[in-house]
Amino acid sequence: MKTGAIAAVLAAGVAASPAPAKRASITPVTVKGNAFFAGNERFYVRGVDYQPGGSSEAKDPIADADACKRDIEKFKDLGLNTIRVYTVDNTANHDECMNALADAGIYLALDVNTPKYSLNRAAPQQSYNKVYLQSIFATIDAFKGYDNTLLFFSGNEVINDAGTSSCAPYVKAVTRDMKSYINSRGYRAIPVGYSAADVAENRLEMANYMNCGPDAVRSDFFAFNDYSWCDPDTFGETDWGQKVKNFSDYSIPLFLSEYGCNKNKRQFNQVAGIYSDEMDAVYSGGLVYEYSEEGSNFGLVTIDGDSVTTNDDYAALKKALAATPNPSGDGGFKTSGSASQCPTKSSNWNVTISDDELPAFPDGADTYLENGAGKGPGLTGDGSQTAGSATTSLAAADSGAVTTGAASGSQASGSKGAAAGLHPPEFSAAPLVCGLVVLVSSLLGTTLIF
Ligand SMILES: *[C@@H]1O[C@H](CO)[C@@H](O)[C@H](O)[C@H]1NC(C)=O
Ligand SMILES: *[C@@H]1O[C@H](CO)[C@@H](O)[C@H](O)[C@H]1NC(C)=O
Repeated sequence: MKTGAIAAVLAAGVAASPAPAKRASITPVTVKGNAFFAGNERFYVRGVDYQPGGSSEAKDPIADADACKRDIEKFKDLGLNTIRVYTVDNTANHDECMNALADAGIYLALDVNTPKYSLNRAAPQQSYNKVYLQSIFATIDAFKGYDNTLLFFSGNEVINDAGTSSCAPYVKAVTRDMKSYINSRGYRAIPVGYSAADVAENRLEMANYMNCGPDAVRSDFFAFNDYSWCDPDTFGETDWGQKVKNFSDYSIPLFLSEYGCNKNKRQFNQVAGIYSDEMDAVYSGGLVYEYSEEGSNFGLVTIDGDSVTTNDDYAALKKALAATPNPSGDGGFKTSGSASQCPTKSSNWNVTISDDELPAFPDGADTYLENGAGKGPGLTGDGSQTAGSATTSLAAADSGAVTTGAASGSQASGSKGAAAGLHPPEFSAAPLVCGLVVLVSSLLGTTLIF
């Protein structure tokens, strides 16, 4: 046996191999005024919506480490810094994928809802209950430990026309409760906000509603889906300039949670508008719908088993992003601003609950704020939509809300709260639990709430 020779070769190999890669740190994103920041640098979302399998199949794409790592190569090639995932199973382990995303400089915008654990727009009061909150709080637990968790969506397209605007108080209550949970648990102040459907009749009302009233009930950001700019139009040929004007006083970060009209051949002209000084004082980027082809002709790539084929849209988006760096400087963001005025009732805005009231925090859910949510139900639980009472009890909008305690995510500023200084062990075993999503709009912004 040539043991000696082999040992020598091994030794040489060891000496020559690089030191283990040091985990690149990724700076948690914080909110300042109407903008996101990573440290002292303005952060613009440059991303795609990522839910291979589509919305009907409740499958967690970031629990599949191999597929995740395969797709990260594409995300890097496209020049992305964010993916949005609509459904996760929080009983799954996400360390490997989240870690690999962080190494690639990519953040996660996460929907906490799932088909079974979500508000039902047809029965909002009954579906807003402690069983539901336990699931979404457990989802927060599963992702709060990652520095590259960018933000949580409290809901997606719950309101999808004028009539369903009556659900808005429930969406706002859920947003309030998620912020309370993060504060009461002393977690990093991960931003919480809503992703609105592309509903022109009440877009501004919804945005203002989520940003009006006491701080405890205001969102940390607002996002909406916008398919109105279709190629080959350029900025001036769309109403996006008017939208910038309409949102010019909006005081929290605003971005597009879905964009990328596919009526005509896509060139992604929107990219040059979004990351330009026409929009940067008001918008903080956007997410292209969507990474994988799911039957609606929105896919940048087609996935077949383990193989991924890029489509024409992929090359078009890559080219548009490469040609469009972020605006320089701080983009003229507003360092501070006031809460919005709550919208007035109209044929497009049917909120009958008064502005200073919201659905009361569900009975029995206090224990989660005090003791944590515990293990979530995963994707296979019994569901929560019929677990509550059909009668709404109202309370002062901020009644019982926990407004302090979260640790700042900014390394520059002092943190406070129970988690001060605690950097979640690099992706250590985050508690599991799950959440899922609701989702996904597809073409035309229809949404399903299961
Ligand atoms: C407005 O909402 C109330 C209750 O939330 C409902 O009873 C009423 O029918 C709604 N009106 C319209 C026009 O949708
Ligand atoms: C801008 O706001 C005005 C007044 O509320 C509204 O009539 C108009 O439709 C809005 N335009 C866009 C593009 O949102």
